[in-house]
Amino acid sequence: MTEYQPLIKVLHEAKADAWAELLPKQLVSAFDADKHGHLEEWQTLIEQLPVLTPSQRNLNADAVQIGRSDDLADETKKQLEHYLKKLHPWRKGPYDLFGIKIDTEWRSDWKWDRLKDHIAPLQHRLVFDVGCGNGYHCWRMLGAGAKMVVGIDPTLLSVMQFTAVKKLHGEAPVYVLPLGIEDVPYGLKAFDTVFSMGVLYHRRSPIDHLLELRDCLQAGGELVLETLVIDGGLGEVLLPEDRYAKMRNVWFLPSCDTLISWLKRCGFKNIRLVDVTTTTVEEQRSTEWMRFHSLKDFLDAEDPRLTCEGLPAPKRAIITANSA
Ligand SMILES: C[S@@+](CC[C@H](N)C(=O)[O-])C[C@H]1O[C@@H](n2cnc3c(N)ncnc32)[C@H](O)[C@@H]1O
Repeated sequence: MTEYQPLIKVLHEAKADAWAELLPKQLVSAFDADKHGHLEEWQTLIEQLPVLTPSQRNLNADAVQIGRSDDLADETKKQLEHYLKKLHPWRKGPYDLFGIKIDTEWRSDWKWDRLKDHIAPLQHRLVFDVGCGNGYHCWRMLGAGAKMVVGIDPTLLSVMQFTAVKKLHGEAPVYVLPLGIEDVPYGLKAFDTVFSMGVLYHRRSPIDHLLELRDCLQAGGELVLETLVIDGGLGEVLLPEDRYAKMRNVWFLPSCDTLISWLKRCGFKNIRLVDVTTTTVEEQRSTEWMRFHSLKDFLDAEDPRLTCEGLPAPKRAIITANSA
């Protein structure tokens, strides 16, 4: 638990005492080996990772870079690659770890490039990334100057991938916690910037999600929201009857105008739609590091404007807004 002490201290400083006090118990419970059949195996694997000294770190590159190829002997590099491959599938990235290029399912750097010039500068800010996956964007946020980045994601494999990357990087004010947004106490009002990217459509109650996010922000803090949208006007929303692009857990896909109206109803100010982009099979695809099916297999083979269920193909919007 000692590795979480700097985080707990910063949470106290931000007056998020309720979470700071709860967190140690939450971590013990989330890392209970009985919770996941592979957890012990992943933890052993991470313990076996060599402790290395990277000659270079670059968090401002498309591929988050830790170390260089010639920092390692060939044998050590081969062994490191073997361990990292055991944490398959790698969905968010890319990473360049001591010359090992982790070509992930997603070009998450493209999303970062679409938003980075539209958000309030992250220098010295306390940042929260809700549903951060393996923390790729958390590293980019730290690279952009954040004081500390706290990511949460309930998918344990993603948390383990982050833990492996952090061990290679060495100590840094960035954390990925094995929690969902529902585990975060209400009323924190602690963070300067809150990101929620790719999460809203996984929530059964999108309005409650927006209220939860608002509640994590300090007065005047910035929300960066990224989610699936549909074409259409105010009031239009798609609620898939069953799966969406083969995903079971997709709920509400609003039009941009509808999403903006939801944010207004939740009390956000200064709402700006900064990007709308259709996801391409170049941005989300199978790779050596993610060998399962990917977007191309989830689209209609004859008409890529549709998913295999005949629904509008994935299109994503980025909106920034401020809490009052
Ligand atoms: C589509 S991924 C997006 C990852 C990353 N934010 C990005 O934009 O590349 C959605 C993530 O949300 C996480 N997630 C699902 N339910 C969540 C919840 N209740 N609280 C926080 N994260 C959640 C999933 O585990 C998954 O990693």
